[in-house]
Amino acid sequence: MSHSFPIGIFDSGVGGLSVFGHIRDLLPHENLMYVADRNYIPYGNKSDRFIQERSRFIANFLIEQKAKALVIACNTATAASVQLLREELSIPIVGMEPAVKPATLHSNNGKIGILATEGTLDSGKFKILLERHANGAELFIKPCHGWVEWIEEGRGDDAGTLNLIRDTLDPILTKEIDTLVLGCTHYPFLRESIQQVVGDEINIIDTGLAVASQLRRRLEEESLLNESSTPGEERFWCTGPLGEMRQLLDRLWGSNARVELMPD
Ligand code: DGL
Repeated sequence: MSHSFPIGIFDSGVGGLSVFGHIRDLLPHENLMYVADRNYIPYGNKSDRFIQERSRFIANFLIEQKAKALVIACNTATAASVQLLREELSIPIVGMEPAVKPATLHSNNGKIGILATEGTLDSGKFKILLERHANGAELFIKPCHGWVEWIEEGRGDDAGTLNLIRDTLDPILTKEIDTLVLGCTHYPFLRESIQQVVGDEINIIDTGLAVASQLRRRLEEESLLNESSTPGEERFWCTGPLGEMRQLLDRLWGSNARVELMPD
C-alpha cells in the first residue's frame, strides 16, 4: 500500500462534507475522495440491510480507486454497517457516533439534547453508547425529520430554516439543557440557525474534528500517512443528478471541485 494512495470518505449526501473539511484541515497533504450517495437520501429511514448494501457497494468502489483507509462520514451508516465493513475489509475504517461521552463530560447541569436520524437513534449501537456513556445525565433525544432533505435541497439560513428548527426543538427547549449534540453530519450545516434558535448559552457539539483526529491516529499507527509536502488532491463522486451535486459542492465546499457520477 502506497502512502500517496487516497482516503475514501462517504455519506448518504453532502452532510459528510462537514467531516471532510476537518480532515482536509488536519491532513493537508492527503489525497481525498468523497462519495455522496444522493440517489438514496435519506439513509435515516432505510433498513439496516439496505444501508449495509449501499455501504458495501461504495466502500468497494472506493477501494477500486485505491483507498488506503475509509471514513464513514455518516452516523446512520456507521450504526448499520461499520462492523460488517470491518469484518469484510482489511484497510483502516473510521466511523462516527453522536458525541454523548464528550457531552456528559462538558455539561454543567447534566441535561443534554441529542439530535440524530431515526436510524441512528433506533440502532443497537446507540443503545450501547447510552449504556456506556450516559453517566446518569438526563438525555432529551430527538430525531430531526426533514433536516437532511432541507440541506440536500440547498436551503440556507433563512426564515424557513429557523421555523423548521424551532418546530423540531420546541419540545426540548423547555428542559433547560446546556449542551446539544449534533449526531448527524448534515446538521453542522445548520449550526448558525440552530444556535440562533437555542440561544448562546447552549453549547453545541459535533464529532467532525474528533473523527479527523482519529483518522490521523489510525494512519500513524499503520504507517500510512502521506509523506509528500504538496497539497493533497480532492475527487468527488455522487449518485443522483450531477448538476445538483455541483451546486451543493459550490456552496458547501468550493467552486473548483471536480465531481463525477459513480456507477450505481
Ligand atoms: N449524514 C448522515 C448521518 O450522519 C445521514 C443522513 C441521512 O439520513 O441520510 O447520520
